[in-house]
Order: sequence, then C-alpha cells, then structure tokens
Amino acid sequence: MTFLNHGSFGATPRCVLRSQERWRLALERQPLRFMNDELGSGLRAAAGELGGLLGVPGEQLAFVENATSGINAVLRSLHLEPDDEIVATSHVYGAVDRTLDFVCRRSGARSVHANVPFPIQEPAQVTAAIQAALSAKTRVLVLDHITSPTALILPIAEITALCQQQGIQVLIDGAHGPGMVNLDLLKIGSDWYTGNCHKWLCSAKGCAFLWAHPDLAASRQDIHPVVISHQLDEPWPAEFDAIGTRDYSAWLSVGEALRFHQKLGGAELRQRNRRLALEGAELLRSELHQEALAPDSMLGSIVTLRWPEEVDATVEVAARLRRELWAEHRVEVAVFAFDGQIYFRISAQAYNELADYQQLAVALRNRRGR
Ligand SMILES: Cc1ncc(COP(=O)(O)O)c(C=O)c1O
Repeated sequence: MTFLNHGSFGATPRCVLRSQERWRLALERQPLRFMNDELGSGLRAAAGELGGLLGVPGEQLAFVENATSGINAVLRSLHLEPDDEIVATSHVYGAVDRTLDFVCRRSGARSVHANVPFPIQEPAQVTAAIQAALSAKTRVLVLDHITSPTALILPIAEITALCQQQGIQVLIDGAHGPGMVNLDLLKIGSDWYTGNCHKWLCSAKGCAFLWAHPDLAASRQDIHPVVISHQLDEPWPAEFDAIGTRDYSAWLSVGEALRFHQKLGGAELRQRNRRLALEGAELLRSELHQEALAPDSMLGSIVTLRWPEEVDATVEVAARLRRELWAEHRVEVAVFAFDGQIYFRISAQAYNELADYQQLAVALRNRRGR
C-alpha cells in the first residue's frame, strides 16, 4: 500500500511493541511488586529519557494518554468565570474545539476563534489574527504548534511572548511537535505544552506528555489529570503518575521509541522527512496545476493541498473520497472538509519515498479521467 497519513496514525516499530510487551509481562509476573514498587521509578526514568529530547528534566513532564488528554487536563482544571474568553485559531483541531465548547458550557466562558487566513503568505498573519482576537477578557490562548487541517507550523514562541505581556496564559497543542520539529520547551516559554509521542516519534499508541512551565506557578497550581486518583494534590507531576489500574506500558517503553528514532537519524530524519514532504507536495502541485497554499518555511513533514475535483465540502464527502482512494488505489491519505473546501494532507515518514506521491498523483489523475 501507499501509506501517506502518518500524521493521523503512524506505524509503531516492532522493537517498540516488543519493549511494550516486556513491560506488560513484568507487570503480570508479580503485579503487586510492579504496581507498588517498580512502576513509579520506571515512569520517572522514562520521563527523564523523554526530557532529553525536549530540553527539560523529566520531573517537569507528566505522562498523559494523548494530546487530547493533555488539553483536557489543563482546560478542565481552570476556574473560568462567565465573562472569561478562551481564544483558539480557526484551524483548531476538532476534539480540542469540542473540549473548549464543553468547558465554556459549564462555566459560562466564551470560546473565540482567531481568523487565520488560508492560503497564507507569512507567519506574521497568524500573529496579527491572534492579536486581533485577544481582549481584556482573554484568560487563555490554546494554540496549535502544527495545525491539523492546514499543516502550518505556527510562530508559537513569538505569540506566547505577546500573550504573556498581556497576562494571558498559553497552552500549546503540540500533537504533531515531537519528532517533527526541534523542541526546546523552555525557549518556547508557554505555560503548558502537550505533545504526542505516538505520532512522529513512533512510540506505542497512548503515549503523550504534558509539560508545565517550572517558573510560572499558576501553570502547576490546581492542574489535575483527567482521572482523579490517590495522589490528588501531590506536587507536579506525581498526581499524573498514578491514575488507577491500567496498562502503563506505552509510557514505559518510550525510551525504546526514542532510541529507534535516533537510530533512524533523529534530527536528520526530521529534516529528511520535511524535504520529502515538500518534494512530494511540489510534485503533486505540478501534476494538479496548483499554487502553494503556504510558504515552505511554515511547513514540516505534513502538507495540505486542495482536492482537485469539484465536490461538496462536507465531512461525509471527505470520508467517501478517502475510502475510495483506499479501495481503488490502496492509497491512504487524509481528506477533510475545511472552511468550505475539500483538502487532502500528505505525510512523510521514514518508510515513504517520492514514488509514493507519484502514486497518489496517478490515483488523482485517474479519478479525474473517469
Ligand atoms: C493539532 C492536533 N491536536 C490534537 C490532536 C489529537 O491527538 P490525539 O488523538 O493523540 O489526542 C491531533 C491529532 O491529529 C492534532 O492534529
């Protein structure tokens, strides 16, 4: 098959799955010893390894199941007032938008969308759109590091600084960050950053983290995991380490994923994937006679293009097109409706090569000819 959607759900290498299995067996061999005496130190060791990639010590990192959980943990811990506003961009991920709806519904706060243009010419347009959406009522900005529908890398450090000057807290949704772009969390400086390891780092599914800035007291105060358990109110991040009886092996095996990613090139793999995504997009655009929707400087290893046929821009149509590409051509690619149009988004990971994008171009051409 031609698998061009690592951005949604990618492959986990066998060595990581084997490591995960070893952790599961360690639990089953002596569950009491494992859960009571070994799990805590295992998790902290894994967080330490992950911290190496993110430029922070492990004790600043809490494990969560996925970016959605990280976002939920923060937003559902905040004490919002009826007059408060939470700002996100018009490119916000659907599940995050629903979470905003949920917390606003309960508190009477309002969720505001900054209108980021697409196509886009430069990052300054993002900053300007967000600036225009902030007000004296804004409590928090929820900002994607890399947007899902439009695949844009946003200028998060600059926007964070802008918000903090105005006393606004910043929660970065870095679902695509780890393994796609270089990360130095302290330099970004946001109050919180949540990132997935199960996307571009190829960890086992269900492995993500939530980082809270160590120097911003409010970022740790009263922030709780989605599941409340024995360690309620323990200092950060202990409360997140024990959230009931469950399978912790995805978190415990993150070190194996980091080593595998490093073996494939680490930073070089990231750059190689980005180059391939840009080349693949260029190939497709020239086949489909399209203009670029964003400058290369705002792109990583995913790129969004316009769907080349005239179709209704509905979720159902997008789902049908994706299924047809798979059924007729064995090509898997993200297809979705965004802002009144249908788009598709390509990904580039270690197992992809330029011929894969050629394959997609042929499939799209065949569809147009039928
Ligand atoms: C920007 C963004 N945020 C959040 C998520 C949710 O990630 P997860 O399903 O791992 O929670 C995604 C998933 O693709 C995403 O692209």
